[in-house]
Amino acid sequence: MHIIPMGPILIGPTQALLALVTDIGNSVRVHPWGRSHPATRLPYGTTFPGTPNGRWSDGLIDFDFAAADFGFPQITPYLSRNASSSNGVIFSVARSPVLDHHFFKSRGVKIPPYAVPLNKLGNSLILMGDIEGNDIGYPLTQGKSINEVQTYVPYVTRAQISATREVIKMGAKLIIIPGNAPLGCYPYILTALPSNDPTAYDNLGCLKSVNDLITFKNNNLQQAIINLSREFPNVNIMYGPFDEGPYANITLKAYCGIGGKYNYNSKRFCGSRGVRVCSNPDKYIFWDGLHLTHEASSRIERILIQPALSTLNCTS
Ligand SMILES: *[C@@H]1O[C@H](CO)[C@@H](O)[C@H](O)[C@H]1NC(C)=O
Ligand SMILES: *[C@@H]1O[C@H](CO)[C@@H](O)[C@H](O)[C@H]1NC(C)=O
Ligand SMILES: *[C@@H]1O[C@H](CO)[C@@H](O)[C@H](O)[C@H]1NC(C)=O
Repeated sequence: MHIIPMGPILIGPTQALLALVTDIGNSVRVHPWGRSHPATRLPYGTTFPGTPNGRWSDGLIDFDFAAADFGFPQITPYLSRNASSSNGVIFSVARSPVLDHHFFKSRGVKIPPYAVPLNKLGNSLILMGDIEGNDIGYPLTQGKSINEVQTYVPYVTRAQISATREVIKMGAKLIIIPGNAPLGCYPYILTALPSNDPTAYDNLGCLKSVNDLITFKNNNLQQAIINLSREFPNVNIMYGPFDEGPYANITLKAYCGIGGKYNYNSKRFCGSRGVRVCSNPDKYIFWDGLHLTHEASSRIERILIQPALSTLNCTS
């Protein structure tokens, strides 16, 4: 397997591959499906804490690093019996989109039964984060055209903004809303939408049409955030600019996976029997094709979240 060291990858203007992923263990606690998720099995968690712990990574995720910077002593998944609002609670459930089952069903797009859409979060959200791009990823991997998925964008933005408005009404004063990562670089998208046309790819090997869609979506979100800031001038609402390049050399292969150009096969996911891993996840950005490695998450947090915190004069 070709390994490109991560050293130079995330240093400099390389926000390209970044996405805040905040599921620290809710998805494996959603009954009855949670117990069968790959994230409950090795090699998940091998870098930290050594055993699977519900995170979709070999270790921590960027939100763990950010939470420490915000001064949260310990963040618990909201489905954990130990969840306590005094420490901050994370509602994110991996593989969940923003929009709900009804929206996608009426358009013929399947989302997993265990997905917990944003509108289910109710009134208790404490910290806004994590929009993983699943509202774009599910329809694209099920054969929907870029043009069709583009029509979903205003719905997604409206849902995100309305959830944010709820949080503000509850008293939130500092909100970071991340844009989508460029899904056109992700192993699971590259595998699902192969093209024989070399011009379909940019110089990194990412799918241009998908990343253009993400840019469109992020522009729409930013405009909506500007509008929301006018509505609430006393609330600090920040956009997480995770979609901006240019980027350096990276490997677009999943570290934990098997098959194809991108080491990814949705039927033989990381954690399945016979799916091998290599020796050093720190050299990779992508852990399992959809999620990032511990090392990538840590670097992303240092580059993107810490500067935002110092802007706000808010350090741990
Ligand atoms: C929950 O808290 C108990 C007691 O503090 C602790 O022993 C246990 O490990 C915790 N469980 C989880 C899943 O964090
Ligand atoms: C932002 O507000 C402007 C002016 O009211 C409106 O035309 C535009 O559609 C809004 N954009 C979004 C994304 O909500
Ligand atoms: C990226 O890698 C290719 C092939 O290994 C190399 O030719 C190119 O110079 C590298 N580009 C950068 C910006 O490092």
